[in-house]
Amino acid sequence: RRTYLVTGAASGIGRATAARLRDGGHTVIGADLKGADISADLATPAGRTGLVQRADELTGGRLDAVIACAGLAHPDPVTLRVNYFGMVASLEGLRPLLAAGTDPRAALVSSAIAIHPSDPAIVDAALAGDEAAAVAAAQAAVDRGEGHTIYGASKQAIARWLRRTAVTEGWANAGIPLNAVAPGTVVTPMTAPLLDDAATREVVDASLPMPLNGHARPEQIAPVLAWLTSADNTHVTGQILFADGGADATLRGETG
Ligand code: NAI
Repeated sequence: RRTYLVTGAASGIGRATAARLRDGGHTVIGADLKGADISADLATPAGRTGLVQRADELTGGRLDAVIACAGLAHPDPVTLRVNYFGMVASLEGLRPLLAAGTDPRAALVSSAIAIHPSDPAIVDAALAGDEAAAVAAAQAAVDRGEGHTIYGASKQAIARWLRRTAVTEGWANAGIPLNAVAPGTVVTPMTAPLLDDAATREVVDASLPMPLNGHARPEQIAPVLAWLTSADNTHVTGQILFADGGADATLRGETG
């Protein structure tokens, strides 16, 4: 029996993952804006600190796994705050609790969209850890009428952060695998409005073609996150596992 913390646990992929783990007999502490064990706004420094403090209180300072799902796709800088800075703060902030756990593991949700070109000003500032500059770059994108690019930039930045971080001090050398899942299109409250409209659905499908089984349900992504954060995973780290119905292989072919 393991103890997991899942962010974004009130909806979609996070909710399905938490449910699967609970069905497996594990203890899951969910975090979300509301409707979970811990209420925390991961767009804000206070919410991020609150998450870690509350998790520490609820677990006695020990976690076996963290799964960072919380995210949003608004054409607004808040998307960068949550999807990049909120995820980094969750994982770094909870790392001491993982260090006290058994067979500790961590995973985050990036996106297959991360392989598309994105705004380097946003990505570079995020990777430099400069939230003010990254948010300013995201606001500049909004001002140019390109706010829709913020989501892809946030997912590319977190994917690059993962590659860099998994093998740094306190992760691999502390025995903590850190991986990402990159889903294609998953039918959740985040994507439902896009998929319900024939014109936007066509744009989504052209951007991420999924020849294997089409759009996923959140319950089909949950087992991938569950395995990466299980004790069975001893040697997979720093990987971005595309659970995307073949989108990456279609778009990048042999060079991916
Ligand atoms: P969802 O909207 O169903 O769930 C996301 C959850 O994150 C919600 O419960 C929401 O309240 C929470 N959240 C948003 N802002 C927050 C904040 N400031 N603080 C705390 N929690 C916050 O969406 P879905 O689809 O389950 O997304 C989960 C993750 O998967 C996200 O990171 C998303 O970017 C990613 N993803 C989703 C894909 C899809 O097609 N649905 C594809 C690829 C990645």
